Amino acid sequence: MSSARAASHPQPAAHRQQPPAAQHPATGEAAVQATQRAELDGELDLPVLDAVADYEKIKRIGEGTFGIVYKARDKRSGELVALKKLRMERERDGMPVTSVRELRVLQTCKHPNLVELKRVVTGPKLDSVFLVFEYCPHDMGKLVDSLSKPFHESEVKCLMQQLLSAVAYLHDRWVMHRDLKLSNLLFTHSGELKLCDYGLARYFQPWEESYTPGVVTLWYRAPEVLLGTEQYTEAIDMWSCGCILAELLRGEPLFPGRTEAAMLELMSRLLGAPNERIWPGLAAMPHASRFSLPPQPYNYLRQEFPGLSDSGIDLLNRLLTFDPEKRITARAALRHAYFTERPLPRLPHYMPSFPSAHDADGGGGGGRGGQHRNERREMEEAHGRGVKRRYQQEERDRFGEAFGDARAHRRPEVLRRMD
Ligand SMILES: Nc1ncnc2c1ncn2[C@@H]1O[C@H](COP(=O)(O)OP(=O)(O)O)[C@@H](O)[C@H]1O
Ligand SMILES: [Mg+2]
Repeated sequence: MSSARAASHPQPAAHRQQPPAAQHPATGEAAVQATQRAELDGELDLPVLDAVADYEKIKRIGEGTFGIVYKARDKRSGELVALKKLRMERERDGMPVTSVRELRVLQTCKHPNLVELKRVVTGPKLDSVFLVFEYCPHDMGKLVDSLSKPFHESEVKCLMQQLLSAVAYLHDRWVMHRDLKLSNLLFTHSGELKLCDYGLARYFQPWEESYTPGVVTLWYRAPEVLLGTEQYTEAIDMWSCGCILAELLRGEPLFPGRTEAAMLELMSRLLGAPNERIWPGLAAMPHASRFSLPPQPYNYLRQEFPGLSDSGIDLLNRLLTFDPEKRITARAALRHAYFTERPLPRLPHYMPSFPSAHDADGGGGGGRGGQHRNERREMEEAHGRGVKRRYQQEERDRFGEAFGDARAHRRPEVLRRMD
C-alpha cells in the first residue's frame, strides 16, 4: 500500500473513554454488568444495560461461525430485531477476541449499508452476551437461491453500488471484512443492502503485515489467499465483490469449487491461468508448487456473460484480477463507467420486494440457484469450523499464556496490539 494512502486516511478510531458505571434498572444485575463492563474496558461506550429478557425470541434464523442469530421482538417497543448470541464456550473467562473485534468494528463504523448495532444485552448467565441488530428480512444467499430468474441488471447495479459503498467506507477506515459473500449481505423491504457479520473483520496496516491465512469462504476466496499468503491486503475483499457481481448477474455462484485446487482450476479455466508475467511474485507464493494450473491462455468472461456490455466485462475483469496490486479498489469501482451507462442502477426505493426467506421454513422454493443451496450451506459450515480453529490458534500463538488469562482481555494495550 502506498504511503500517500497512509497519509490521506484517518487512522482507526482511537481508544474510547470508559463509560460511567451503570446498574440494570429492572433486574439489578449489577455484578454481571460490572463484569461485562470490565471485559469491554475502554473499548466500548455502548450501554450494557438491558437484559435479553426484554426481547421475545421468535425464531432462529442463522447459525454460523461465531454465533446463533434469532429473530426477536423488543417487548417494550414492539420493534423487530435480530439477536446474535456470542459464542463463549471456548473461553475460560472473558470476551473472546473475535467478539471484541466484531464489537469494535461495529461500534466505530456507521454507514447506511452496514447493519446497525443497536445495543449489547446480557443474558441470565455471566457468559451470555447478545448483540441486538436492526432486523432485515432477507439474506442475499437465501434470496438468490430462491429466485426463479436472476435480478435485472439495473437491480444488480443498485445492489453493487450499495455493497461497494459499504466496502469503500470500511477500507477508508482501515477495516477489511474478510468474509464478503451473499449470506453476509442483508436486504430490506425498502431495497437497502446491509453488510453484516464482522466476525472476521479486522483493522489492517498500511505496511506489509501477516494475517490469519485461509480467511474468506471458499467460493469467494481470492487467489492469493488460496495460494497461502499471509501478507494479503484489503484487495481480498475486492475479489469477493467480483464473485458477488457475477453471482448476482447469473443467479449462480461463479466459482463453486469444493477444494482449494478446484477453486484455482475454475478460476484459470474462466480467466486464463495466471503466470509470472501478469502476476509478478506468483511463483514465490507459499503454496505455488502445490497446485498445477491448466495451461489455459484465454479469458472467457465475454462468452460466459454474453449479455453484458463491454464496461460490465471490464469491471468484472478489474475485480477478478489475479494480481492483488492491480485489482481495482472499492472507490475506483464505484466510479466505473458501468454504473453510468444504461440500464442505469435502480433506486433502492424501486427495488422489488420479496416474501422473507427467514419466514419460509426450509427456505426458498425451487429457484435457479436451488441446486446450490445445500452446497452453499455445507461449504459455509466447513469454512466456519476451519477458519475459527485457525483464527483462534493465531491468537493463542501470538499471546501465548496471556490468551487464557482473563486479565489479558482487560488490558487495553493487549487489545490495541491485536488490531
Ligand atoms: N440483522 C439481521 N437481520 C436478519 N437476519 C440476520 C441479521 N444478522 C444475521 N442474520 C442472519 O443470520 C445469519 C448468520 O449471521 P452472521 O452475522 O452472518 O453470523 P455468522 O455467519 O458468523 O453466524 C445471516 O447469514 C443472516 O441469514
Ligand atoms: Mg455470516
